[in-house]
This record gives sequence, C-alpha cells and structure tokens, in this order.
Amino acid sequence: MPARVLIVDDDAAIRVALVAALDDGSMDVAQASSAEDAIRVLDERGAPDVVLTDLRMQGLDGLDLLRMVRERAPDSKVVMMTAYHDVGTAVTSMREGAADFLCKPFDLPTLREVLGRLLGRGDIGSSRDGGHASVGAGNDGRPTRWGEPVPHILADRYELEIEVGRGAMARVFRARDPRHDRHVAVKVLRPEVAVSIGTERFLREIQIAARLHHPHILTLIDSGEWNGSPYFVMPFVEGASLRRRLDEEGRLPIPRAAALLRDVAEALAAAHAVGIVHRDVKPENVLLSGRHAWVSDFGVARALWDAAGARDTTIGAAIGTPAYMAPEQGAGAGDVDHRADVYALGIVAYELLAGRPPFSGRSARAILTSHLVDEPPPLRERRPDIHPGLEKAVMGCLAKPPEKRWSDAASLAGRFGAFAVEAVP
Ligand SMILES: Nc1ncnc2c1ncn2[C@@H]1O[C@H](COP(=O)(O)OP(=O)(O)O)[C@@H](O)[C@H]1O
Ligand SMILES: [Mg+2]
Repeated sequence: MPARVLIVDDDAAIRVALVAALDDGSMDVAQASSAEDAIRVLDERGAPDVVLTDLRMQGLDGLDLLRMVRERAPDSKVVMMTAYHDVGTAVTSMREGAADFLCKPFDLPTLREVLGRLLGRGDIGSSRDGGHASVGAGNDGRPTRWGEPVPHILADRYELEIEVGRGAMARVFRARDPRHDRHVAVKVLRPEVAVSIGTERFLREIQIAARLHHPHILTLIDSGEWNGSPYFVMPFVEGASLRRRLDEEGRLPIPRAAALLRDVAEALAAAHAVGIVHRDVKPENVLLSGRHAWVSDFGVARALWDAAGARDTTIGAAIGTPAYMAPEQGAGAGDVDHRADVYALGIVAYELLAGRPPFSGRSARAILTSHLVDEPPPLRERRPDIHPGLEKAVMGCLAKPPEKRWSDAASLAGRFGAFAVEAVP
C-alpha cells in the first residue's frame, strides 16, 4: 500500500511544489490549505501515515493541528515545517510529540530522508554515500540541510556508523573510536539549534559536566565543533532508554523500579554535590543496559539555557520537557536549583510505578498549569500494591513549593533503595 502523506500549508505554491515532488506513485499525497481543512481531510479519508504541516497559518496553527492529530490519529506522524526564526517553536512541537521538523528552505533530498525514516523506508546509512557534504552552517552563515549526511569520519577520529536516535535538539550516532577500539555515541546539535544558541558558548558550558564521574552518569568524553554545529561524545550504551522500556512494558515491577530510581537518585546526588543541576531528568535521558542505568545529557540543558536563554527566548522556553518540569521551572525561573531535579525524578518515579505520569494534557501549557495547581492523584490509586513508604518517597518529591520537597537526592536514593529488593515478609 502506498504511504499516505497529508500536506498542510496556506501557501499554495509550497503545496504544489511538495505534491509534485512526492507524488511519484510510491505515495498517496493529499493536501489541505489550513489546519481546519486538514482535520476535514483526516475525518473524511482516515488517518495518513505522515502529516507535513506548516507552523504559522491563519486560524489554527501547526501546533494546534499537531495536538488535534495526536488526539484523533495517534499513529500519524507529524512533521513541522518552520522558518529559521521559529526554531524554538519547532523544538516545542517535538516535545509535544511531533516526529521531526524541517526548517525552510529545505531541499527535496532532506524531505525524502525525513519521510523515508518515518515511513520505515529510509536507509540512513546509505545517505552517507554522498560523502562529505555539510550539516552545519553554509557559506551564507545559515544552517544547511538537516538531512544532509554528516561526514563518515568526524574530527579525524570518530567513524560514524549509524544514526541511533533523533531528539528535538540533536541527532545521535553510533561511532567507532579506533584509538581505543570502542564504540562511542556522538551527538550533533541540529544546525538550526546551533545557530540560535551560539556554538562556542555551548561548548564552554558543556565542559562543566565533563568533570562528573559516577557509575550512573554517562560521562562526557570529548566535544568539538563540526561545520558550525557543536558535537559531543559519550560512551555508547548498548541497550534502550527507559522511555523504550516503559513503552514496551508499561509500568515496571516495584523492586526493579525502586532499584532504577535509586541509581538515578545517586547520580543526581553526585552532581548536586558539586553544584550541577541536570534540568531535564526524564525517561529518555536514562539509558539502560542489562540492570545498569546511566543518566545522560548532564549539563546539556544548562548549557542550552545559558547559551540560548538570553539570545533566543523561543529556544529558551523550549528547554526542558513539560511532563517532567517542576512548577518553578515551568513558570520560567531561569535559575532553578537541585530541587527541580528532585521534582522531575518524582514524576519519573510516579510514571515507572503507575504506568503514566501524574499530569497529562493536550498541550505543553496545560501540563505546565497542572504542575502548578493540580494535586497528583495518590499513587496507591493507580498501584494498589505499593508500600506506603515507597509512595511517601515518591510523593515527597512532588510538593509544589521547592522547600516542601525532599531536599536531598542522596537520602532519597536511600528511600528508594529500601524497596529495591523484595521485602522478606
Ligand atoms: N550514549 C548513548 N548511547 C546509545 N544511545 C543513545 C545515547 N545517547 C542517546 N541515545 C539515543 O538517541 C536518542 C536521542 O537522544 P537525544 O538527542 O538526547 O534526545 P532525547 O533525550 O530528547 O530523546 C535517545 O532517545 C537514545 O535512544
Ligand atoms: Mg537525551
């Protein structure tokens, strides 16, 4: 069956160009001139595989459409098309469930690469055949194509093998480090994001995290700049993120969840002890291999905030993930402390044990408001077999005012640890 793509843009010229480019028999391409129109098409023709939508439109905009599609057709993937000055909004849309974004102007190979990947048809490895084209800033100082291959060898050293993941801010590759005969993960910031935040500043800030060494923290091995985009290198984790584990298994067995939470709390405690706050604790940033857990992206949110916050408020606002954001962080406080991490860990804990986070909503704003005003439903309503002591450990992270939360990740690790093995009756 041909893949079904719905193009939504209020600019007829763009619609025509995209339809002409994609309608080659391998895809069934429909179009709509507004979000309202798109919903009509969706209701009439059923859910497409991919919705490719403009962000700024008259009436309902691309973000509104994203939310409606997520609700009506959760299996449809939504790709946002956006202008460079709107990168922050594009990042927000990724946090709200968009599958990817494309900055205009983009070229057709880029579009095809993104669609191919989402439709499970892309062979990303083969896109490297093009050789040494750039992913960073072009000659005119603008980022070039996002989908463009990065070089096979980065910094004369890392042999990029496959792309293993793509987040709102960066793409992640598995690479070989021949000098040490090991695999590493190389994370390259999206060129659009790199341009907004300033590479030098980002790289300076990220160094702060390099001094963290802990069995449950993924260390920063190396960092640098490639064609205008900062990249950094960390150990490669052969396994899955906690997000994947949750998607596959739903809630976790209690002793397993408690052991994981203990490990993450210990990692946070070590960072807090030297004044480093993570700011983006979430299941995506906990990587698992066997029974071992590593917290990744230490220092990244901080570096993004410091580098971007002042210069690009739309990027600043997009840093952090609404579902895990402490009330004070969601309210826009730039200088949150370690207690924001304790809160986020509480949300993760709640999700591991209940199978879903305490607050959900149709938009980032709705979730952030819940963090500010709603009481989390008691954990035992969703997990009746939970021990009151463990429930107390979790709920004690979730107090709205920071001063009412557990203040110390180290003692929290102890609280979780107590439930990490089956209690002997
Ligand atoms: N060190 C690593 N080893 C293996 N896979 C990784 C590593 N770091 C990140 N990944 C994978 O890449 C994906 C994208 O990571 P990232 O850019 O940090 O986005 P996010 O954290 O928002 O999901 C992750 O979800 C994970 O699957
Ligand atoms: Mg991450």
